[in-house]
Amino acid sequence: MKPAQNITDSNSTKIGILDSGVGGLSVLLEIRKLLPNVAIDYIGDSAWCPYGTKSPEQIQERVITLSKHLIANGADLIVIACNSATIHAVEAVREKFTIPFVGMEPAVKPAAAATTTGNIGILATEASIAGEKFHHLLHTHAPPSKIKVITQPCPKFVDLVEAGNLTGSEVDVAITEYTQPMLDAGADTLVLGCTHYPFLRKSIQALVGSEITLIDTGAAVAKRTKSLLAETTSPSNEINIFTTGPLETLQTIFPTLCPELDNTTLSTLQLS
Ligand code: DGL
Repeated sequence: MKPAQNITDSNSTKIGILDSGVGGLSVLLEIRKLLPNVAIDYIGDSAWCPYGTKSPEQIQERVITLSKHLIANGADLIVIACNSATIHAVEAVREKFTIPFVGMEPAVKPAAAATTTGNIGILATEASIAGEKFHHLLHTHAPPSKIKVITQPCPKFVDLVEAGNLTGSEVDVAITEYTQPMLDAGADTLVLGCTHYPFLRKSIQALVGSEITLIDTGAAVAKRTKSLLAETTSPSNEINIFTTGPLETLQTIFPTLCPELDNTTLSTLQLS
């Protein structure tokens, strides 16, 4: 394991990224835009997807297992490209490992700043919504005296994205089910509080209307990641995507999710 300060010394910068499945690829795409010249290892824990219905202990155990693997493979920094995993495990991994971890949480603060109706909707997983960290976020940035918040778990969104279904009637039915109550209540700003959801952004925007603001934190996480790396060019800029699930599924959906990515290898990963 490398100490954090080695980020500045190393001439081969590698970022590790993890998620419960393919959702974190939405964050990888943002990171790639800002950091085209670093190596990236990504693990999608599709065998354990969804994290949204798992207990905090299970999520924590998986995040530790995936982090160990990324670090053993030379990651200088790890991005937890999963709100549920950040909420339940970021403190544990920061305590356990010496490299920096970048986490992400639903964009409550930017949504509270953006709303003009004082009414926001937060789409996130069941695990995120139940997390203490999430309640702290609400309490700090969207107290009930100032902002009306409606939260909504969206398990169907995760299943749809894991299957590579980003458009069509099944997608539209799920979007309407999850967002209509928020719109009816007057929300003008919706938070995409799970990294799978930005893959449905176009379909969501088309249904809720262009006057509704959709917010996610992928770009902000990429910016934060870049700010922590002193060295942003590396001899290799290869992207290795590992899945703990079936490789064929990843191979089928990957071109739909990340059509713009090249120099990418897809593989399976067996982890105990
Ligand atoms: N992509 C994840 C998140 O940001 C979790 C999706 C899931 O596995 O339920 O919360």
